[in-house]
Amino acid sequence: MTLPTPAPLGRFARISGWGSYAPAAVLTNADLERIVDTNDEWIVSRTGIRERRVAAAHETTASMAAVAGARAIAVAGLEPDEIDLILVATLTPDYWMPSTAALVKEAIGNRGAAAMDIAAACSGFVYAYATAHAYVTSGMARHVLVVGAELLTRFLDYTDRSTCILFGDGAGAVVVSVSDEPAGPQGIELTTDPAGAYMIWLPAGGSKSPSSAETVARGEHFIRMEGKETYRFATKTLASTALAAIERAGLHPDEIDLVIPHQANVRIIEAVAKGLGFPMERIFVNVDRFGNTSAASVPLALAEAVDTGRVKVGDRIVFVAFGAGFTSGAVAMEWSVDPANGARAAAIDPDAIRVRLPVDWDSVDPIPPQLAAILAAPGPVDVPLDDVVPGEPEPAHAPVA
Ligand code: ACO
Repeated sequence: MTLPTPAPLGRFARISGWGSYAPAAVLTNADLERIVDTNDEWIVSRTGIRERRVAAAHETTASMAAVAGARAIAVAGLEPDEIDLILVATLTPDYWMPSTAALVKEAIGNRGAAAMDIAAACSGFVYAYATAHAYVTSGMARHVLVVGAELLTRFLDYTDRSTCILFGDGAGAVVVSVSDEPAGPQGIELTTDPAGAYMIWLPAGGSKSPSSAETVARGEHFIRMEGKETYRFATKTLASTALAAIERAGLHPDEIDLVIPHQANVRIIEAVAKGLGFPMERIFVNVDRFGNTSAASVPLALAEAVDTGRVKVGDRIVFVAFGAGFTSGAVAMEWSVDPANGARAAAIDPDAIRVRLPVDWDSVDPIPPQLAAILAAPGPVDVPLDDVVPGEPEPAHAPVA
């Protein structure tokens, strides 16, 4: 699917704000060595991942999404009530219903927006961005909050070393706003290839196989993946999808300053660079510190790229993702907002943003037992976060008496 550019009706869409949130707890490869038959050397050489973040028991996909979203709205210089539509891309919603987006709407203090989730796995953020673009350029919305958020560590089989080492938790967001001025070249490409439908999937819990003691006994509530097939699809499709988006934008690959790919595996990212003929200096990588955060991966990387000075006004950037479905999506665009606005995210206190809990219902302990001991240890949360999420406060320490 291709969206026309310049936009119809003389209305243009551009990113006006960005933000991210990463939980404090860090799960290193050494931690994983304690719970599954793996080792740091294998994980680093096959994936490039050194550590990933794990959400605490009080955190959910909605709570992380709300913090990232509130930061993006602050960076855009908007009030939460100015958002007309909230889209949350996730494959790990808090519940099947209500939508995670509905919970985010309340948590950020918005009263008027429509809110819905988008399901396109790791490509979800790009699909949600495309949806926001369509809403804004058609005149159906002025400001759309687009969030990618995942809490994958609660959907992993910690006896399956081929999947449990790959994924982490986090959230990233942008605000897509209307602009009367042309917002620079922009091209969008989305693909879906159902031939890969069962290459990455979560078998139980849906209408085909509702959750039961038997599905749990079979471990069908965990993510399953055919790694080699997925790898092949990813290396083929990421470059072709990115190139299609660049072409839709009327640009040449030589004009692209930075590619922000889905952070699944550094070998896949290197293959994409090769496919595009780009040196790695023009590709943004943070998979080493976050692992694969699925729909959160691109916006988390985008926010870090902008906040660390890798993106300037006038730069042509591409973000591109692939995921279960198989899906893929890419956006080529010119960056038009002052990166210094990112400092406004510091105004958002994550502890002040609360997702409302249900009445008369307590969930079971959400932390997988294999992770519980590691998360309870004092070490992991005590890391400086200022190199990860600009504006993130240092972890709280007990006051000195
Ligand atoms: N530690 C140690 N050894 C391992 C591990 C591990 N964590 N995992 C697998 N191995 C072993 C295997 O058992 C196998 O051993 P054997 O040769 O004795 O049988 C050996 O390592 C090689 O295994 P492969 O599966 O062939 O390893 P491969 O090089 O293909 O790497 C990987 C596996 C990293 C999963 C790779 O296939 C990959 O990255 N695939 C893409 C995954 C991906 O990007 N998924 C994201 C999907 S996006 C979404 O929508 C969720």
